[in-house]
Amino acid sequence: MLLEVSNLHAYYGKSHILHGVNFSLESADIVALLGRNGSGRSTTLKAMMGLVPPNPGSIRLRGQELAGKGAHVIARRGLGYVPEERLVFPNLTVEENLLMGMQPGAEGAPRWSMEDMYQYFPRLRERRGQRAGNLSGGEQQMLTICRTLLGNPLVLLVDEPTEGLAPMIIQVVMDVIRDIHAKGVSVLLVEQKMTMALRVASRVMVMGHGEIVFTGTTEEMQAREDIRRDWLEVA
Ligand SMILES: Nc1ncnc2c1ncn2[C@@H]1O[C@H](COP(=O)(O)OP(=O)(O)O)[C@@H](O)[C@H]1O
Ligand SMILES: [Mg+2]
Repeated sequence: MLLEVSNLHAYYGKSHILHGVNFSLESADIVALLGRNGSGRSTTLKAMMGLVPPNPGSIRLRGQELAGKGAHVIARRGLGYVPEERLVFPNLTVEENLLMGMQPGAEGAPRWSMEDMYQYFPRLRERRGQRAGNLSGGEQQMLTICRTLLGNPLVLLVDEPTEGLAPMIIQVVMDVIRDIHAKGVSVLLVEQKMTMALRVASRVMVMGHGEIVFTGTTEEMQAREDIRRDWLEVA
């Protein structure tokens, strides 16, 4: 097992948000974490990254415990995180943003170069001398994904990467995520839209009220109308 999350709880102040999240990822997995807004998907990623303290909980990457470590250590151990807020350094250029992401990465992780990034997103090459703050939302999303990849992660945690993007850019971003997976990085893709998840994922997990309420293959998911009705489709 590449990554094992067990009995993960998290709080914001006194609000108990995650109620014992359990799941695992194998190497070269691509798994979608689905759920309605507010179900706890982003908090799960933040707790894995140490941005919200796991309290309690265990996150083991290749058997090594990450709970209690800081976000930088966790990133160096091999968890790459693309937050939903698309954090770029607005006053740095596109290329400077990419340089900031470069890290040796975890042992055995696939390696990525600046050139790989520019091949994925030629738009970033064209704009490499421009301030990142002047990019469109879609371009900032591409930049955030690339900066994370340049850290050479073993596992990529991506939070709603296509939210608010135009259909053409969505296609490009999803193709890149599929390719990242094909090159050997495991991907945990947080999504709200089931159709998007079914396009790339081999397995699906559904979150409700801070717990995983369903785990299965995409085919099993499609057969479960009750799960979709109770936990996914907005009334
Ligand atoms: N910074 C925060 N402070 C307090 N409550 C928060 C914070 N972030 C999220 N929450 C609450 O935690 C719950 C889970 O949120 P979140 O993990 O963002 O869900 P999702 O990503 O599935 O939409 C929601 O009820 C949300 O209102
Ligand atoms: Mg979220």
